[in-house]
Amino acid sequence: MKETLLKLKNVSVRYGGVQALEDVDISIDEGEFVALMGPNGAGKSTVLKAIFGIAPLAGGDVLWHEGKITPKAHEMVRRGVTFVPQGRQVFKSLTVYENLELGGYALPNKSDLGKNIQEVLRFFPALREKLHTKAGHLSGGQQQMLTIARGLVSDPKVLLLDEPSLGLSPKYVTEVFEKIKEINEARKIAVVVVEHSVKSVLEIVQRAYILAHGRVVLEKPAKDLMGTDDLERIFLAK
Ligand SMILES: Nc1ncnc2c1ncn2[C@@H]1O[C@H](COP(=O)(O)OP(=O)(O)OP(=O)(O)O)[C@@H](O)[C@H]1O
Ligand SMILES: [Mg+2]
Repeated sequence: MKETLLKLKNVSVRYGGVQALEDVDISIDEGEFVALMGPNGAGKSTVLKAIFGIAPLAGGDVLWHEGKITPKAHEMVRRGVTFVPQGRQVFKSLTVYENLELGGYALPNKSDLGKNIQEVLRFFPALREKLHTKAGHLSGGQQQMLTIARGLVSDPKVLLLDEPSLGLSPKYVTEVFEKIKEINEARKIAVVVVEHSVKSVLEIVQRAYILAHGRVVLEKPAKDLMGTDDLERIFLAK
C-alpha cells in the first residue's frame, strides 16, 4: 500500500458570498498522478489553492501524512509542495537560469541549488540551450516548461499544476504532458494537474476527480473514464 500524502476532508471554501468548494474529499498518495477536471468555475483552481494555503478555508480538514495541518504557503513550500499557477508566470526580464534560481529560494541548503538546477535541466534540454536567454523571449510552450522546471528546483514531493496546457498548440500540449509524466515516474513526485484537455490528460494520469459547482461529483481511475460519457454528461449539464 502506498502512503497517503495529502488529504482534503469535507473541505469548504467561501469567497465572501461565493461558495467555491463544499464538502470536498480528495486524497493523493505518494508519487500518484491525479487530474482535477470539470467545467469553468467548478472549483478546480480553488482545490489547489486550498492545498497550498492561499484559499480561505470555511470548514473541513487538510491532512499531510494523515496529520491535521493549517496550510500556509511558506510552510507548504518547506514541506515539499510546489504550486505552478495558471498563466505561465515567468519573470520575463530575467534569464532562464535566473528564473530557475528563484525556484530554489526556500532550499534550506543553498549549496544544493546548482546541483538541483542541473538535475532539472536533464528533463528540459530545450531550456538548457537557452539558459542565458531572457524568459520573455521564449516561446509560450518553452515558458510553460520553464514554470514547471522552476517548480522542480526545490525538489518537491508534490507538484500542483493549474492548466499547464492552456493556450498551447496541440504539439506542445503533448510535449508538456509527456514531460510531466516523465518527471512523475523518474522522480516519484506526486502530481495534481488541473486540466481542460480531457483526452491528453486521461491518457497519462492514474486517477481523476471531476468537480462541478464546488463539489466532487465523480472519482475514478482514468482508464475507467476513457470511452464513457461521464465527462460529457458533467461538462454539458449546467
Ligand atoms: N478570489 C475570488 N473571489 C471571489 N470569487 C472567487 C475567487 N476565486 C474564485 N472565485 C469563484 O469561486 C468559484 C470557483 O472558482 P475556481 O477558480 O476555483 O474555478 P475553476 O474550476 O478553476 O474554473 P476555471 O476552469 O475557469 O479556471 C467560481 O465561482 C469563481 O468565480
Ligand atoms: Mg481555474
